Amino acid sequence: MSVKILMVCLGNICRSPLAEGILRSKLPNTGFLVDSAGTGHWHVGHAPDIRSIKVAQKNDIDISYLKGRQISASDLDDFDYVYVMDLNNLSDVKSIANTPQQAQKVQLILDALFPNENLEVPDPYFGAERDFEHVYELLDKACDAIASDLKSK
Ligand code: 4NP
Repeated sequence: MSVKILMVCLGNICRSPLAEGILRSKLPNTGFLVDSAGTGHWHVGHAPDIRSIKVAQKNDIDISYLKGRQISASDLDDFDYVYVMDLNNLSDVKSIANTPQQAQKVQLILDALFPNENLEVPDPYFGAERDFEHVYELLDKACDAIASDLKSK
């Protein structure tokens, strides 16, 4: 049975598809399943934002085939780890949890680098290309820490 990891942001078109692609690139195909979802419904079925596709591509990661979907409470049963990008995502996802076990799976992704500091991956949607580069760098470092932790378990 594989270890299942879900990346979550608001729209599921900028940050979480990038986090999905980056973490997948750092884990072996067998034994791990990585997915992403949004707390909002606006971009269900949409491809990632072109700026996320481009910054991923620059780093030899293809996320162009991904499609947006909205998180549901059943994801909190299906997945073992749920990483969110910011504090709004954290409270939104925790609010759909039906049990303490579900809520416990949800954590800020930057806690992997800076535990207990409540640091957020900023939403780049209304930003520029350099904001997407910054998001990529943060996610790349966080995913390095997450991947080595998961592989050592
Ligand atoms: P994301 O960015 O949560 O990183 O995918 C956003 C994408 C779309 C919107 C907000 C944030 N939006 O308001 O449509």
